[in-house]
Amino acid sequence: AEVVIVESADAAGALVAAEILRLIGENPRTVLGLATGSTPLPVYRALREKTAGVDLSGIRGFALDEYVGLAPDHPESYASVIGREVVEPLGLDPSLVHVPDGDPARIAVAGEEYERAIEDAGGVDLQILGIGTDGHLGFNEPGSSFASRTRVKTLTAQTRRDNARFFPSPDDVPRHCITQGLGTILRARHLVLLAFGGGKAAAVAGAVEGPLTASLPASAIQLHPHATVVVDEAAASQLR
Ligand code: F6R
Repeated sequence: AEVVIVESADAAGALVAAEILRLIGENPRTVLGLATGSTPLPVYRALREKTAGVDLSGIRGFALDEYVGLAPDHPESYASVIGREVVEPLGLDPSLVHVPDGDPARIAVAGEEYERAIEDAGGVDLQILGIGTDGHLGFNEPGSSFASRTRVKTLTAQTRRDNARFFPSPDDVPRHCITQGLGTILRARHLVLLAFGGGKAAAVAGAVEGPLTASLPASAIQLHPHATVVVDEAAASQLR
């Protein structure tokens, strides 16, 4: 992967937003792969600033993942988060922005439906990625197959602790999720992995410098011909 070290999360946001704008200039129906969590927020903020007055209504989007068992209108469902942080502020067409279906009654079919929807859209042009402190990508926790497709997974105790900040109590963090697989993510045409802060340094080093292992799912980016890793100094601090 190409590693770009930037001064701040805001600088990363500006850089990635500029690349997204370039894509949109070429194709107003660009397909974006959207991540949730804290990491991509500077990208969405910068996009909002740079696209004031630009018509984004043709942009299509696919979120990486969703909790299983939170109603879509729960404020912390990723459907809500993507609506609040991406669709509304950027003025995207909500019918063109998809989030995996976390309805427990639909888990048997939701994964394949999502795969088909991504294929029907022609695939993801640029996939924004964060990384878990345990090296997860999407919610592909350690042990996930590099060939995996969208499916239900169990969140690790570490990820549930990491995400407890979004919920009233740690016990309220869902135990399961539906996530694009590593194989799904690897089919996007450009991967842009962002990471900020020293807490991500070990995961970033493992992802970029290997070994290639399912124990560190983000190391899968080494298999991708066009992966860019945008990190601040702290997140880069364990790179050799
Ligand atoms: C979010 C996602 C996760 C996060 C990762 C980092 O859609 O798939 O992989 O990117 O957990 O989370 P933050 O950015 O909150 O540190």
